[in-house]
Amino acid sequence: MILGIETSCDETSVALLDHDGSVRVNLIASQVERHRPFGGVVPEIASREHLQHLFPLVGRALADVHASWSDVDRIAVTAGPGLIGALLVGVAGAQGLSYALGIPLVAVNHLEGHLYSPYLQREGPAIALPDRFLSMVVSGGHSQIYDVTGSGAVMLNRTRDDAIGETFDKVAKFIGLPYPGGPQIEKHASGGTIDRRRFPLPVPQFKDGSLDFSYSGIKAGAIRIARELGVRAGGDSKLLGDFCATFQDALFAQLFDRLDAIWAALRVPASTHSGAGAPDGRPADMPSEVAIAGGVAANGTLREKVLAWGRERGVTVRLPEKRYCTDNAAMIAFAALQRTAEASDPLRVSARSRIA
Ligand code: KG4
Ligand code: ZN
Repeated sequence: MILGIETSCDETSVALLDHDGSVRVNLIASQVERHRPFGGVVPEIASREHLQHLFPLVGRALADVHASWSDVDRIAVTAGPGLIGALLVGVAGAQGLSYALGIPLVAVNHLEGHLYSPYLQREGPAIALPDRFLSMVVSGGHSQIYDVTGSGAVMLNRTRDDAIGETFDKVAKFIGLPYPGGPQIEKHASGGTIDRRRFPLPVPQFKDGSLDFSYSGIKAGAIRIARELGVRAGGDSKLLGDFCATFQDALFAQLFDRLDAIWAALRVPASTHSGAGAPDGRPADMPSEVAIAGGVAANGTLREKVLAWGRERGVTVRLPEKRYCTDNAAMIAFAALQRTAEASDPLRVSARSRIA
């Protein structure tokens, strides 16, 4: 089995996976309650909580599946990006285990974890990865689309400013909703009506035609509108619902604007393509599936919209189980299983808050 460790933000997580991607156990100690009074993650508190929870969780994971260290042949740990103090707890812990027990260590990029997560199943082996797929990671810290093949993931676009989850959280905080804001906005949006004229939040376009995301304009616009119209948690509930529905829709509209453009750009017509065609007439080397991952992929409205997007185009869409949307160690171990590269020397692995 492979042991996964994730401590990049505010969840301490430990998982054990078989080499076919079956998740034997995936434990998560969430710190959300500890950070809630502050309206966001406090890095100092996160590090301390990870220190407290990491080793007890490792022990529990092994005990839960009646395994011992002799059953573990690899350790995977998130090395970044994330909060540096939080990452260091996981990395130092994993290094210690690897060095002391002689088990090879694999350093994993947190985003790599997210982007493969839609292929993990609730039970049994992971879904076989297609030769090529697009993976859109939408979380608190990231909004980017990857082109994933057997040789790795290439980032096709990214946010130039705020991430989509961060935008949910900041606007939610401004109108007085508790942290994390994404699920709160979703809850209030479900009773609301989309009204673009009352809440004008257009999809931003770059003059240079770039397909990058940008959420700072929507964030500023939403905060200004909320202030002007007096949108408040605990205030006029119809106004709050309509605002949340329109704001959420504007955030998602941008995702589909970029996804559409990227998908269209990659759809090379079979007639102009030199390679052999797939049975359905598409070139064999085109991406065949679209996956959505990250905390925001837990949003029910987004999930429905992505499924509809796929149905309209005849594209297979992969959505992670909700438990694998937010940060978890199963996805970190699974990403390590995709690596053909040799495991690293444990003492050379270092935590990095940013990874290019
Ligand atoms: O992936 P994640 O756990 O952490 C990062 O790596 O960033 O994502 C957390 C983010 C938060 O911004 C949270 O508000 C958002 O995911 N989120 C949601 C929902 N559930 C979590 N956003 C919208 N709707 C949801 N249901
Ligand atoms: Zn994450």
